[in-house]
Amino acid sequence: MSTADIGLIGLAVMGSNLALNIAEKGYTVAVHNRSAGRVDEHMADAKAQGLDGNTIPKYDLADFVQTVKAPRSIIIMVKAGQPVDDMIEQLLPHLEAGDAIIECGNSLFTDTQRRFDYLKPKKIGYLGVGVSGGEEGARHGPSIMVGGSEEQWHNAEAVLTAIAAKFDGESCCAYLGEGGAGHFVKTIHNGIEYGDMQMIAEVYGVMRDGLGMSAKECADVFKEWNNGPLNSYLIEITGHVLDAVDAETSKPLVELILDKAGQKGTGVWSAIVAQQMGVPATAIEGAVAARSISSRKAERVAAEAIYGKPDRQKTDVTLADLEKALLAGKIVSYAQGFAVIAKASEENGWALPLATIAKIWRAGCIIRSRFLDQMSSAYAKGEATNLLVVPDFVTIMKDSHPSLRKVVAAAAMGEFPMVCLSAALSYFDSYRQARGTANLIQGQRDFFGAHGFEIEGRGSDLHGTWPSTLGK
Ligand code: 6PG
Repeated sequence: MSTADIGLIGLAVMGSNLALNIAEKGYTVAVHNRSAGRVDEHMADAKAQGLDGNTIPKYDLADFVQTVKAPRSIIIMVKAGQPVDDMIEQLLPHLEAGDAIIECGNSLFTDTQRRFDYLKPKKIGYLGVGVSGGEEGARHGPSIMVGGSEEQWHNAEAVLTAIAAKFDGESCCAYLGEGGAGHFVKTIHNGIEYGDMQMIAEVYGVMRDGLGMSAKECADVFKEWNNGPLNSYLIEITGHVLDAVDAETSKPLVELILDKAGQKGTGVWSAIVAQQMGVPATAIEGAVAARSISSRKAERVAAEAIYGKPDRQKTDVTLADLEKALLAGKIVSYAQGFAVIAKASEENGWALPLATIAKIWRAGCIIRSRFLDQMSSAYAKGEATNLLVVPDFVTIMKDSHPSLRKVVAAAAMGEFPMVCLSAALSYFDSYRQARGTANLIQGQRDFFGAHGFEIEGRGSDLHGTWPSTLGK
């Protein structure tokens, strides 16, 4: 009997929470997992939460597929990479034309595009869906970025819209475009997430080592900032992370955690795709590089022994400067991220809706913040794709870039690394200057490679008469 509205394969943390969320919204979900034990554990969780009535456990894949009403929507929540391809192959013999596979992991968007193209002639829909918000989001309302087969999206639309987070009653779930569009947008979301996190960490460094603040004092400042223009999930959780105390030592937990950041790849993908398309995304690149430097702990320890401990004098930057610097840096970073999305949209013919993307990031996802509402309004009005020239943001930048400048300068003199905030400042300074210095680069390129340059009024592909340096 086909009684389930939707099927879900892969009951690790994210999959299990999504299935509970679906059941809670009144839909019947069939669940399956490679190991039967995990299905049983999920059913025990569902029972404990009164959701077992809407959950159908299935131990056999063919039986699982038959339980889902046709045309079928089957969510797969397995590890990104080969396991996704393997799962598709296992499912294929059991699916019928019109059914859809909905892949909700952090997949590389070009893989999603390949899978979409592979399944299209077989008349199987493929949705590559970015789900943001961690475990809690999956359970109570994530932000959901959908890409892929539009027809099959409509079959799953009611369920996905119902389980997503809501902002002012509007669901944070939207169909964004064909093929890999959903996973592409999720990747850039993560790149922006990296930038936000790194900038927060840089500001924390100045508080801790320049202003001599304790973890508790830092926590209080982040909590206060969360009531102002920086209001966002990441600022909020930073307050909680800094506040946590280790039960064993009674010390702030954050001081015991090793200063080596992990990364699973989405930040790197965003930086690569931005570079490939020729869109500067220096905040994302900086954030990825900062994580990579952080992971080289042994090298850093050795280098400190050579150069000596950084000479971190007391700085004269104020907390108000740090707050504004973070705001300015964040705006630059989002301006870059949205510019990457706009360019990818053009290159892939996706027509990605920038206003909708900003809207579905207002709740549920890791980068949710107050100012995304302002961004979505700007894009809805059809204002420029680069936020740095959108009137509302021009006003904020004019007010806050002097603080970013002050903080970056103080960091340089105080021997604080500021990979991301300084990258944001340099981008801003490069972007807002009508006359830069690439004229010299063009001269150099022509000198050694006859690459040509342009002189206004005289034409492009011009060459200089350069002296020979050979034999000198
Ligand atoms: C989200 C997050 C999530 C991501 C983690 C870890 O939007 O819910 O982006 O998808 O997997 O943040 O990413 P890293 O391990 O690369 O930091």
